[in-house]
Amino acid sequence: MAKEKRIYFCTECGWESPRWGGQCGACGAWNTLAEMKVAKTSTAARAAVREVNPPVPLTEIRDDERSRCPIGNAEWDRTLGGGIVPGSLMLLGGAPGVGKSTLIMQVAAAVAKQYGAVLYATGEESEAQVGMRAKRLGLLEAACYVQATTSPTGIMNEARRLRARFLIIDSIQTMQAEDTDGLAGSVTQIKKCTELLLRFAKETGTAVIIIGHVTKEGVVAGPRMLEHMVDTVLYLEGEAGHPLRLLRATKNRFGDTSESGVFLMQANGLQPVSDLSRLLLAERSTDQIGTVVFAGLEGIRPMLAEVQALTNPTYYGNARRTAIGYDQNRLTVLLAVLEKKAGFALAQQDVYVNVAGGIRIDEPGMDLAVATAVISVYTETPVAATVAALGEVGLTGDVRRVQQVEKRLQELTQMGFRTVFLPAANLSGLEREKWPLRLIGIQHINEIASKLRGDL
Ligand code: TYD
Ligand code: MG
Repeated sequence: MAKEKRIYFCTECGWESPRWGGQCGACGAWNTLAEMKVAKTSTAARAAVREVNPPVPLTEIRDDERSRCPIGNAEWDRTLGGGIVPGSLMLLGGAPGVGKSTLIMQVAAAVAKQYGAVLYATGEESEAQVGMRAKRLGLLEAACYVQATTSPTGIMNEARRLRARFLIIDSIQTMQAEDTDGLAGSVTQIKKCTELLLRFAKETGTAVIIIGHVTKEGVVAGPRMLEHMVDTVLYLEGEAGHPLRLLRATKNRFGDTSESGVFLMQANGLQPVSDLSRLLLAERSTDQIGTVVFAGLEGIRPMLAEVQALTNPTYYGNARRTAIGYDQNRLTVLLAVLEKKAGFALAQQDVYVNVAGGIRIDEPGMDLAVATAVISVYTETPVAATVAALGEVGLTGDVRRVQQVEKRLQELTQMGFRTVFLPAANLSGLEREKWPLRLIGIQHINEIASKLRGDL
């Protein structure tokens, strides 16, 4: 039997060290070194490692682009940059119940139908549960196999036997490698199982996707380095109680990470959404005080969303600031800027901001829309339903330019908007007469109130 030795690795960056220490020698994080037992490599194994592949000229490397496997689900394919790449290792993260197993069942059935055997290994549910879901979704494919187990070696043996094109691990937190210490879900187990699966994917050319639950902070539970080890990181996101789901690629070695997919969770699974703006604006509020539409980008697509704000005098203690669908810290900063640079006395006001439709927007370009909604409700000035706003607000109160403004204006034109508040800096690059829109350039947030009152 191979002897064992201990190594220590950083759960943040994956740096390995033969000794324990309080601080990671690579990324400098404190208290992140975890112990792992590994088999000592024999002389024969070390000799085998020395037999490496010869180097290949860049010009003679085979183009893998043709081997990509699109499945015909436009949202999924686009997020992956065109389709699944054989031999790649992917991570799909998301909160419990968001729809990871549902989405992956749909993908599994599509792959099985078009490309060959798929193995769906589940450590969370029984075969019957997975079968029931597939049946309900109308996805009973004979080439899609289900195995309820938590042993990665068992799974890889079966995947080899089936010559699986696609292997699904649902979820990595339930897997338990036999020769490694630690309970399923521990950092050492997750690292070990992922390493095994990575090697398997590269050796066999099987595309492997591992599902991972995320913690409250929104990162995949377990080591950060899981994200470093895989080729592609996907997150499925959605607000509780809303059917909208976004699939975002936060890392992709085979494509653009600014791509994303939009779905609606319905009784028959996750249905692709091609017209996001129409969906988000479908239930627009009729109240014109405190709401304005933001022209944003979701991935590379334009997206219009309604921003709502409410202010209310604070009756006791500190003023509350609540943001749903917008960054809480950005809201706090923006309110301070509105107070200091535009003279709105918001320190004694509770402020609530909500993005309608259950979508979360991270773009800084949303600041101007939030500021406009807050000023509108605070000053009780209505905003016409055909007005939209976009622009980033700096600490000085200056409104900064946003990217891809033409794409956003196109979407606004298409959706029947008439007036746009946008950064003055963006105006210089635009052919104004080309647009059937009133383009109102804003240089500083102290201009918004008068623009709302006077010009509309
Ligand atoms: P699931 O895919 O099991 O979530 P995860 O694997 O991320 O934990 O889906 C969970 C929820 O989705 C569940 O509460 C029921 C709902 N759902 C639908 O609304 N429609 C469907 O067709 C399916 C299969 C699930
Ligand atoms: Mg699940």
